[in-house]
Amino acid sequence: MIVCFSGTGHSLRVARDLAQGLGEPPPVSVRAWERQRETAGERLVLVFPVYAFGPPRLLTTVIDRMEAIRAGQVYAVATAGGTPGSALTILDGHLRERGAVLRGGWIITRWDTWLNRYHIKINIMVRAIKEGRAGLLPGSSLLFDALSPLLYRGFCRRVGATGRRFRLAATCTRCGLCARLCPVDNITLGDDGRPRWGDACEACLACYAWCPARAIRFGWWGRLLPAEPPAGLTAQDLLALKEQTRPA
Ligand SMILES: Cc1cc2nc3c(=O)[nH]c(=O)nc-3n(C[C@H](O)[C@H](O)[C@H](O)COP(=O)(O)O)c2cc1C
Ligand code: SF4
Ligand code: SF4
Repeated sequence: MIVCFSGTGHSLRVARDLAQGLGEPPPVSVRAWERQRETAGERLVLVFPVYAFGPPRLLTTVIDRMEAIRAGQVYAVATAGGTPGSALTILDGHLRERGAVLRGGWIITRWDTWLNRYHIKINIMVRAIKEGRAGLLPGSSLLFDALSPLLYRGFCRRVGATGRRFRLAATCTRCGLCARLCPVDNITLGDDGRPRWGDACEACLACYAWCPARAIRFGWWGRLLPAEPPAGLTAQDLLALKEQTRPA
């Protein structure tokens, strides 16, 4: 079973390529995983972006809410800009609390695409997962290992309010795509059809990145975050992830 969280689409691209290589059904969202759970002994591959040197808050929250994780082998693949911090080791800590251990994990960054080694890395992961090999990438450095959990905890405390930083331009066409895309349904449409952000944001930037009218504006620091969607992926692909359920 492949479980994916993705805002701008890079993790979804990875999850779909892994599903194809491993001969697995299409990835399901973290919320669908929480509803449906994995089957005992099944292989579980978690694919997600790095946020503030850790995994998305939703992923660790859902893991913490589970009674136990009974998957056979658990793997993780994190996509990142270029400074992944200790995302895999933080995730491993949450999994261990639920009786599971991360058997293997990889980071895939924008550099892998720019340096044309994206598909090479996907093939390496597919081979390793198929063979059930173990191996967890350590954090970037001793300094990052020490700082990441602190920064990550601060991020988790404040991330819900990220929606308050979005501003809407007059160019909004009231198409409602942002509300449909939001992986945690943190956007509602007002009587005037314009989006309103709640306080359960995950800072995934899906609304910001995929708005067809580019009507959503973010604070200055938001503009520094990489939010360009990957080539070849569409908003429909992200909507499909949100609606995907585990095949019967
Ligand atoms: C709120 C936020 C925090 C981020 N923090 C980091 C980070 O600490 N290190 C990093 O390398 N990339 C960071 N990124 C970049 C994302 O990890 C990267 O763009 C990822 O591929 C996005 O995945 P997605 O397209 O599946 O949403 C951050 C992005 C956002 C939106
Ligand atoms: S996706 Fe953009 S144009 Fe459509 S409702 Fe949201 S902000 Fe407005
Ligand atoms: S409101 Fe926007 S940034 Fe926040 S979780 Fe929803 S889509 Fe992501």
